[in-house]
Formats: sequence, C-alpha cells, structure tokens
Amino acid sequence: MTIGTRVVAALSALTLAGLALAGCSTPATPGASGSASTSASTAAGFPADATIGVSLPWLGTQNWAEGMDQFTSQLQAAGFKPLVQQADNKVPQQQSQIEAMIEQGAKVIVVAPIDGSQLGSVLDKAKAAGVTIIGYDRLIQNTKSIDAIVQYGSVEIGRVQGRALLEGLGKLKGAGPYNIELFAGGPADPNAPNFFKGAMEILQPKIDDGTIKIVSGQTKFEQAATLDWDNAKAQARMDTLLSGFYPKDVKLDGVLSPNDGIARAIITSCKQAGKDIPVVDGLDAENESIVSIWKGEQYQTTDKATKPLVEAAVKLVIAAQKGEAWPAPTSKTNNGKIDVPLYELTPVSVTKDNIKDVYKDDPKRLELLK
Ligand code: BGC
Repeated sequence: MTIGTRVVAALSALTLAGLALAGCSTPATPGASGSASTSASTAAGFPADATIGVSLPWLGTQNWAEGMDQFTSQLQAAGFKPLVQQADNKVPQQQSQIEAMIEQGAKVIVVAPIDGSQLGSVLDKAKAAGVTIIGYDRLIQNTKSIDAIVQYGSVEIGRVQGRALLEGLGKLKGAGPYNIELFAGGPADPNAPNFFKGAMEILQPKIDDGTIKIVSGQTKFEQAATLDWDNAKAQARMDTLLSGFYPKDVKLDGVLSPNDGIARAIITSCKQAGKDIPVVDGLDAENESIVSIWKGEQYQTTDKATKPLVEAAVKLVIAAQKGEAWPAPTSKTNNGKIDVPLYELTPVSVTKDNIKDVYKDDPKRLELLK
C-alpha cells in the first residue's frame, strides 16, 4: 500500500464518530511525534490480540470509573487484552503502573495523567520500546513522548460553565448585580487552568461592567484552585468564604464550580450555613448531580460523555494495530514541547430544562429523573 492509499483506507475505515473534524489538515501518524520513536515500527502495526495499557488517575469522580469500564469492554470487544488501571491520585503509583505496562509488552498506552508534567521519563521509556502513547481527557505536558490526545475541548468546557452560571443568575436571581465566588480544579491537572480560563473569558466582561462581583476578591486561579480536586477541601474553602465575607445580610447568588463533586460540596456548605442555594454549574453529569439538578438544587452540569471519548481513543488504537495512518486531527495543541494532534469532542450543557431530552437514550441516567 502506498502512503496515499493507506491514508484513504484509514480515513474510510476510521470514522471518528462524534469528533468535530472541521478545520483538519494533515493526518497524524501513530508514533510519529515521540523523540525516540521509530514511526515505522508503530505504523507497521502489531498483533491483533496485543496488550493495550490504560492508565487513569483515580476513581474520585464518576467519569474515571466509567472510563475503566468502557476501556475494558471496548478494548476486549476489539480483540485486545486490556490492562486498565487507576493510580489513586498518586504520581509514583501511576509511574510504576506505566512501567509495568511497558514490561508486559503493551503496544499502546492510553494515559490520563494525575500531574500533567510528571510522566516525561517513563513515557520516554515507553517510546524507546516502540509504544504508541495517547493522552486521554487530560493533556500530557512537557514531553515529546505523546502521539495524540483525545479530549473534550477544555477551554470550551470552561466557557460552557461560565455561560451556564450567567444564564442561571438571570433566570433565578433577579436583575443583579450578583455576588459570586470562583472555584477551580486541582492545579496539577492541565485541564483545571483551562476550564478556569474559559469560564473567565465569559465572566470577566461582566465583572468589569459591574454585573457580577466577586465579594472575596479571590479572582486568581491559584486562589480558586482545589488541591487534588478534593471535594472536602472545596467545602472547607466555601465554609471559610461564607463565614468571612457573607454575614446574614449579604447574599451569595452564584458560584463557579469546575465539576459536579465540587458543586455539591459548595451547595452542602451553603445549606449548612443557612444560605439560599446559589446558582452552581458543574461537569461530568454524575448521578448525584443529575438528581440534584432534577430536584432544583445544582443548576447545571456540563456533560462530556465517557463512551464516545473512549471510542475515539480505541479507534486510534485499532488504526495503530492495523498500521494505518490516523485521520486528520481536529487541531493541534502545544504541550510545552511539541504540537500534539488533538481529537476534540464537544461538551453539552445540561439543566433541568433539557435533562430529559439529553438522556432520552441513557436508561441509567433517565432512571434518576423520577
Ligand atoms: C476531568 C473531569 C474530572 C476531574 C477530576 C478532570 O481532568 O476532565 O472530568 O471531574 O478531572 O477528576
């Protein structure tokens, strides 16, 4: 097969369902971007029953548990031997799990890093062993040893959250101006600053024109961040904000939240302090938040469905196995060292208004809306 026919074959065989492919240019090559990679060895394919490693950060939010299930079942269905692990949010554990995957002969390793920039040397080892490396959901930073990333647009997620917060304020809290507070995710996770950046693109003009006021004055990512995405830490910070800045006569209208777990922690803190529930956005469509939205407590969640994201990653694995070039990525994203081919999916904003419609084909979530 010539390179040209291989690309055409790959593109027709590999329709990355759900991926926004607008603006694509050149196809990506599995194994092409790694420093120590011989793109020929990965592009030449590998056995159809090969071991495929998947290294996820933790099970602290529902999306990763869904990811474990989806990777296991989808890789098995495709004929591979899945080796799917999570690392309890401990960087050394993730490093040694990836080492073990290399030793067990994994041909592709899919990685969602705990800390975006702590996997460079173990991934260099993987590359040297001819492994194809795919980032999943979180970007792997400051390394050449990454061939592609599949994720929902992380700045776009933040924009969706910022817009939802403004929309909810307008709908539920009268005319304004509004008092709000800002929360962000774990600082080691490259998604967290991007979510915050996207949200601030939407909120900053409203801060500037006086529509919203951050009463605590804590407007920087570092101030808003929640170490390790720990819900208890977010709740403790909300308790402190309420006792320090919100005496009885000061209302809190809304809170920017980076995900559902933190959204619920914020709501719990407000309830315990005897405050009205503020408008709070979220992320992950977690079961408990679906219930909370349906009850009229959490205002919104941002759905970035796990199944299609895993499908997008598994399609790249299948192409690598067959020795086919990958389809053109949506775009490229710089990880501090190289421009990484990015396969991007689009998140969906979910509120009580559209929740039944969004989950009409998702029996498990639909079941929660009773
Ligand atoms: C993921 C979110 C998740 C968070 C904490 C982020 O990188 O994109 O879905 O809630 O990590 O686990």
